[in-house]
Amino acid sequence: MNIVLIGFMGAGKTTVGRMLAERLGYAFVDMDEEIERAAGLSVAMIFDRYGEAAFRDRETALTERLAGKDNLVVSCGGGWAMNPVNVAAMGASSKLVYLRASPETIVRRTGGDSRPLLNVADRGARVASLLEARAPVYMGAADLAVDTDKLTPEQVSERVLEEAETWAV
Ligand code: S3P
Repeated sequence: MNIVLIGFMGAGKTTVGRMLAERLGYAFVDMDEEIERAAGLSVAMIFDRYGEAAFRDRETALTERLAGKDNLVVSCGGGWAMNPVNVAAMGASSKLVYLRASPETIVRRTGGDSRPLLNVADRGARVASLLEARAPVYMGAADLAVDTDKLTPEQVSERVLEEAETWAV
């Protein structure tokens, strides 16, 4: 059994993923970091040089490699769950946890960083429109959803760990 964290940029997937992996004694994989390491380029540079579609192909190829593994906590990029192929590949061996955050929280948490999809003049409008399209898909894919707006990463981890007891991970 793996635990796969999905949700929008800034939802806390990487921070919470590291904590969960430590608590469970699982290996932690951050998909964006893994793709960056393999390519020797940042996500922003991959988008820039090869385009978003090439990044998505790398995400799916990595997903296929991870799907056969066990005892992982995987933190996915915010667009990962939008491809049903990814969800189907990982779903059989994993529980998917949606870390939910409001547009306000996302704008606050992603301020000042260099995510290519948020590199626009009106970041608030971009977050709102992407989130509107994505939230139902995240929700539909998830085995568990946790509202992170008012919780610390430790509290979010606790909530997931409580639920994980019922999954016999
Ligand atoms: C993306 C989210 C990013 C990264 C890429 C695209 C998205 O990951 O994969 O910039 O489509 O939401 P994080 O959610 O880890 O920021």
